[in-house]
Amino acid sequence: MTEIPVKKKLLSFEEILEDRISSADLTMDPPENEEARQYYFIKKARLLADQLQAELGRPLTFHINTFGCQMNARDSEKLAGILRAAGYQEIESEDADFVLFNTCTVRDNADQRVFGRLGRISHYKKLNPMMKIGICGCMMQEASNVEKINRSYPFVDLIFGTHNLFRFPEYLCNTLESDRRYVDVWDKTESIVEDLPNDRKYPYKAGVNIMYGCNKFCTYCIVPYVRGRERSRQKEEILDECRRLVRDGVKEIMLLGQNVNSYGRDLKDGSNFADLLEAAAEIEGLRRLRFMTPYPSDFSEDVIQVIKRHPNISRHLHMPLQSGSTAVLKKMNRRYTKEEFLTLAEHIRAEIPDAALTTDIIVGFPYETPADVDDTIDVIRRVGFENAFTFIYSIRRGTPAAKWEQVPEEEKKVQFARVLSVVQETARQQAAKLQGRVMEGLIEEINAKDPGKVTARLSNNMLVHVPGDASMIGRFYQIRLDECCGFYYFGEALEEC
Ligand code: SAH
Ligand code: SF4
Ligand code: F3S
Repeated sequence: MTEIPVKKKLLSFEEILEDRISSADLTMDPPENEEARQYYFIKKARLLADQLQAELGRPLTFHINTFGCQMNARDSEKLAGILRAAGYQEIESEDADFVLFNTCTVRDNADQRVFGRLGRISHYKKLNPMMKIGICGCMMQEASNVEKINRSYPFVDLIFGTHNLFRFPEYLCNTLESDRRYVDVWDKTESIVEDLPNDRKYPYKAGVNIMYGCNKFCTYCIVPYVRGRERSRQKEEILDECRRLVRDGVKEIMLLGQNVNSYGRDLKDGSNFADLLEAAAEIEGLRRLRFMTPYPSDFSEDVIQVIKRHPNISRHLHMPLQSGSTAVLKKMNRRYTKEEFLTLAEHIRAEIPDAALTTDIIVGFPYETPADVDDTIDVIRRVGFENAFTFIYSIRRGTPAAKWEQVPEEEKKVQFARVLSVVQETARQQAAKLQGRVMEGLIEEINAKDPGKVTARLSNNMLVHVPGDASMIGRFYQIRLDECCGFYYFGEALEEC
């Protein structure tokens, strides 16, 4: 007898949520299993929020202030999903019943912005004594920041870190039930708890985590300390999440990880990024697939060939160079030389000629000389980056480079200006080459400066502002690039595609 294959039913995000919440039994103690436990607390939070809402005679509101990278943005969607599942409504202003700061600590100015904003919201709490304020994310993984909040920001109700974000439903209940500050920061975690609610910011595009943490330990970088070691999700779980998103109407997915080329290594079952990328690209109905961030020297030929084979994989590769000087790269513990980076970039340009290459650059790393910066500038010119984020080196306590001899601030600024002007030059040159071309663009939003225009993002990540209205958002159009303005264009949407 031949067996009829049973097609796995893919439940929607809402179905999973309501199913898990309804199976939680609040007459029992909280379950041990972490996922079941958090659904138990979501159900409990709903009850607590209902009571509060009845007392206040109005709906409860929340606001999440997100700092940092796409990984944090994705985490904030999960936090928002939990608050919404508990019965809170999102509002734009910080004058909400539950305000959460999801923080970043990659550079000092990120920390300063968080403290600045935090100081400013204390007055809302004076007006609304029911208000709860929480802080989470990368900054909270550093004891000194937690101490500073304990000392100087007495109005904060809840502090947790990156490793225990999935416990938020439980913390939410604790915070609603007590006026005491609740602090719980872990220094690591083995578990990946994924199937909690989440509230996507955009209906047409979404980020999907493929791995957490980083093992690279670049000597300037705090991320491995605040996000822990690399942990990859199972390929099938990732693909199921992507399929669900596509079924929900998502057109563009971004696969997220600090170092996506290392995907699967820790699983030790042969999983690798090239296979995952290909399987995701082949999901029916997925119009565009992006990924962030690939570590340059870990780019396999297989990944390059998968991109080449699949036109729905975005023609944009963000490859952080950091420095063009082999000596500086060595001190940074980046595992490639200037020449190796140039060879890789040339190879990618040859294999995928329509791909835009963008990068991150740090200026003012310890011991960096003007001659080292010349090397960086040389690489920028030779690769002709379509765009680059340029950062002044910022000391991160606990990282090796923090103890090294520092470049004087004035010198950093001088060198930074040199790099920036070359980056702008290559970006303009590359953008100008596209003048008059017609390319596919996904309309993302109404133009902030001109409500008669909408903004399209091309596969190569370039933005084009075109006349249009809200009905076009989330759709693909053929876009004509008419007028180059540095690294973006004004153009026209010709027809939907
Ligand atoms: N995982 C990614 C980058 C994550 S952090 C990668 O390896 O490419 C994003 C960027 O912040 C980095 O690429 C780097 O350019 C910058 N950055 C990280 N630490 C920094 C520091 N201490 N000072 C200045 N810039 C830093
Ligand atoms: Fe930081 Fe380097 Fe890891 Fe990127 S690869 S997150 S720069 S340690
Ligand atoms: Fe910042 Fe944490 Fe991302 S430090 S850059 S939010 S991983």
